[in-house]
Amino acid sequence: MSNKLNVLVIGSGGREHALVKALLKSPMLGFLACAPGNGGISRDCETVALSVMDSQGIVSYCLERKIDLVVCGPEVPLANGLADELRSRGVAVYGPNKNGAILEASKAFSKDFMHKYGVPTAAYENFSDFESAKSFIEKAPFDVVVKASGLAAGKGVIVPSSKAEAVEAAREMLCGDSFGDSGRQIVVEEKLEGEEASIMLMVCGRNYVMLPPSQDHKRVFDGDKGPNTGGMGAYAPAAVATEEVLKDVRENIVRPVLDGLCKEGIDYRGTLYIGIMVTKSGAKVIEFNVRFGDPECQVLMPLIESDVLEALNDIALGRLDSSLVRIRRGYAATVVMCAGGYPQDYKKGDEISLPAAVEPDSFIIHAGTKIVDGKLVTNGGRVLDMTAVGDTLESALEKAYALCAKTSFDGAFYRKDIGYRQLKRNSDSSSHA
Ligand code: AMP
Ligand code: GLY
Repeated sequence: MSNKLNVLVIGSGGREHALVKALLKSPMLGFLACAPGNGGISRDCETVALSVMDSQGIVSYCLERKIDLVVCGPEVPLANGLADELRSRGVAVYGPNKNGAILEASKAFSKDFMHKYGVPTAAYENFSDFESAKSFIEKAPFDVVVKASGLAAGKGVIVPSSKAEAVEAAREMLCGDSFGDSGRQIVVEEKLEGEEASIMLMVCGRNYVMLPPSQDHKRVFDGDKGPNTGGMGAYAPAAVATEEVLKDVRENIVRPVLDGLCKEGIDYRGTLYIGIMVTKSGAKVIEFNVRFGDPECQVLMPLIESDVLEALNDIALGRLDSSLVRIRRGYAATVVMCAGGYPQDYKKGDEISLPAAVEPDSFIIHAGTKIVDGKLVTNGGRVLDMTAVGDTLESALEKAYALCAKTSFDGAFYRKDIGYRQLKRNSDSSSHA
């Protein structure tokens, strides 16, 4: 009997391609497949035409192909109970059960959970009735943010510029139908001031590994202008999360959250993504996600020096030895190349021309691509994630942008200022040195 592991990755974006590339490096890997995958993933491993929502189809595939481990990329199948179904059929899973996925699937639940366990977060109240929400917004002694409680593919958060706008957002969610069931309940919370960072933990019950802090760039245009997107680029480690901030996060956020999960009877095995705001009065939780960030995953995977498959499998089996996970020195950056028009309407099916050769420590990660008649074409708003590792953030960015410059497709665009906050800090500190 071989002791190699057969692995199935679930998902079709850049995050999943980054996971596939990390898993392929493992000497423990047997067979690797991804459902449904994308154009780039299909060049690296077998892809399976199964929807991430087809839990029965995924379970049958795993049993048939003797899959030892499923690594679930996105949150929706987890919230739908995919991990529960796989576990009940004896397949190990990296990703929480439905009772853990609720931390992302219900913002109202996650706020109440934080309140119950004393986790620092914005002051808030949950509402399902518009008049009560309106009255709260008008009386609140702070500026507010309005959030649809349920999953809304990154579109459920409104940061209004006035109370009147906040009331309209609440009306749209609770009385309109553009948010569907996700907006039946809303969270109205205090608007926090500070700089954001993403803290990704690989969690195994009370045990965990904290990956380097990263920073996403959610707005579509340079200087954080324009509408929100799924993420236009990321880098790690993000210096906004200093040693002091990370200590604060470990003691005042991670510890009570993991203890709270255990007390609630939730056996959490998978990524816990903690979006924090570094405020003047310490780190506060903006949100939890129950999966790797996209595009944060693209910068974290190349920074893990040890065997990613071993870590994910140990977590899935409930036996993580956190000392085995080693992080390499240096920085990683990813720049997302998008289709013209994104995040609004955009075209699909444009042929992509990629660089002929890629240097060591540079990676072309595919997000929205597919192969049609042997040609690689665009198939999403976020098309490619140009990723590189360097000794400094500057060198990582230079290599990532060099990949962008050598790539073309009709209407392609990308932000030119990924990492700008940290670059500015670096240049300010060197000019004061
Ligand atoms: P979320 O989906 O909860 O991460 O929210 C999306 C984005 O909205 C965050 O990345 C923040 O930029 C912003 N946001 C959410 N909650 C707050 C808050 N309480 N104060 C300020 N900005 C927020
Ligand atoms: N990059 C933000 C997210 O994955 O939610």
